[in-house]
Amino acid sequence: MTVRLPALPTGVRDLVVVGGGIIGLAVAWRALGAGLSVTVLDPDPGDGSTHAAAGMIAPATEAEFTEDAALHLHLAGAARWLPFAADLEAASGVSVGLRESGTLTLAYDDTDAALLRRILALHTRHAVSSQELTVAEARRREPLLGQRLAGAAWVPGDHAVDPRATHTALRRAIDDHADGSVVLRAAVGLEQRGGRVVAAVDETHHRHRTDAVVVAAGWASAPLLTDIPDVAVPVRPVKGQTLRLQADPDLAPRHVVRGLVQGRPVYVVSRAPATDGPWKGHCELVIGATTEENPDDRRALAGGVYALLRDARVLLPAIDEAALIEATPRARPCTPDNLPLVGPTHVAGLHLATGHHRNGILLAPLTADVVVAGLTGSWFDVDISSGDPSATLAALRATDPRRFTPPATDPRTDGGTR
Ligand code: GLY
Repeated sequence: MTVRLPALPTGVRDLVVVGGGIIGLAVAWRALGAGLSVTVLDPDPGDGSTHAAAGMIAPATEAEFTEDAALHLHLAGAARWLPFAADLEAASGVSVGLRESGTLTLAYDDTDAALLRRILALHTRHAVSSQELTVAEARRREPLLGQRLAGAAWVPGDHAVDPRATHTALRRAIDDHADGSVVLRAAVGLEQRGGRVVAAVDETHHRHRTDAVVVAAGWASAPLLTDIPDVAVPVRPVKGQTLRLQADPDLAPRHVVRGLVQGRPVYVVSRAPATDGPWKGHCELVIGATTEENPDDRRALAGGVYALLRDARVLLPAIDEAALIEATPRARPCTPDNLPLVGPTHVAGLHLATGHHRNGILLAPLTADVVVAGLTGSWFDVDISSGDPSATLAALRATDPRRFTPPATDPRTDGGTR
């Protein structure tokens, strides 16, 4: 059998995106919408952290103490999801599985309940909506909860989306666009001329000539850019494992359920019943996620699988009746300050969109809008991102990829800046 591969795009593209995960494809699709011609390079699009991600749109329940910029970035990211999902579903005809269910957060023991109250106080300080519940109130919202719980809270603005469905939708929208192509090859280097990037070189040595490159290759962005001294990309892999189960709808929670179980965080995302396929009529449950300072070895370790199931089933004992169909290990791309690298670098034509840590799905629409505004010199409307535009602006500035690149001259002694 001969398979006809799509022809390679010819000429100079406006943009090459290196990396076809949810971030890279979101950038590519929004760039097509802005009138650019775009090639995406990835040998296996969507097989990185997008493949493992549960799809948390969870600025409140992913908030960390002392990470105020991240919280405001995440709130801005969540605000972009509704319009992004609506646009993408209209363009692709594919549902992205966005469920605006809200999140029930649970504490297993008294120490977990004390931490949960501190998290709720953090929400209050940042005007994020959340509300403490009694365990009985939580049980009325979610009758499937386990027997032993010490505290609960309701977080109405934290939702979930299906990352794999979103990726399929993006791929469809790009493939259907006359100026978009996804080339199933790995980028191995970038070519510069006169101080600017002019091409991405793939594994077959083919040069994809372009006016601009966005590197969105997750943790693999770092090795790709080691030869470019003016661009520091301190992104490291942090392994995470998620589990996928299939449950009868009667045994699936109605909301995203998060828990603290003896200090360990765990979440369970429940999707709408499948309308086709081998699990038609069943609900996918995604349980996540481990966080391990380990490389992307793609090994699902028994200890991680056990810990996730152990902690999830004390919150939702009906998990025992679900079919375990997948354990998915992948590495998230993490930076030293837990903020992503989004925007132009010191090298003309080279932009970054990586380092999104635990929030790549949440931040994909916002990242795409910011990067495309930077590529086209167009207006980025901060106001639609959140109720606090100045905090959003400060958070976006904190993602400047140039923050890790030392200045060429020392401003303390030379009075110079780059
Ligand atoms: N966004 C949640 C996680 O990375 O596990």
